[in-house]
Amino acid sequence: MSTLFDAALVTRPHIAIGVALLALAACTAEDQSTPTPEPAPAPTEPVDSGPITIDLDAIFPAGAGRDLVLNNCQTCHTWVPIVVLQMDEAAWYRNGLNHRGRVEALSDEDFETLYAYLSATFTPERPVPALPEALLQSWTSN
Ligand code: HEC
Repeated sequence: MSTLFDAALVTRPHIAIGVALLALAACTAEDQSTPTPEPAPAPTEPVDSGPITIDLDAIFPAGAGRDLVLNNCQTCHTWVPIVVLQMDEAAWYRNGLNHRGRVEALSDEDFETLYAYLSATFTPERPVPALPEALLQSWTSN
């Protein structure tokens, strides 16, 4: 009688494994026939998300020369270097010297008005406006 008992002990693990395999196969088959729809991935928000509003009127206050700046100084780079570098008068003068040929279409009078506006408005004392990181990094890339 003990031999039968032993045989049962030996075979039981096989049965257990067989059942497990069947269950696995059933699961796999089920997964293939009725795929569970993946939930749409949650949109990943960029770190500084939210509406990017830039108050150009606050950054470029009204004054003679303002529109000359906005209309002539954004073809090669953005206006970012103009407002973040806190240049003093001497720096603006140097900047004017190496930029004269870059805005050839401007009359000397307009050029002077433009640079007078810049050196009076954008000084080392003027706080740098808070700008989105992407904009801050944009001006050196082109
Ligand atoms: C034809 C292309 C061009 C135009 C137009 C242009 N820039 Fe530039 N700007 C440059 C380049 C190139 C530099 C990089 C430094 C350099 O070569 O002088 C620069 C750099 C600057 C800088 C960084 C400081 C410095 O001197 O390097 C400021 C500020 C600046 N420009 C202001 C202006 C202003 C103000 C105007 C409009 C009058 C203007 N730019 C128009 C090409 C231009």
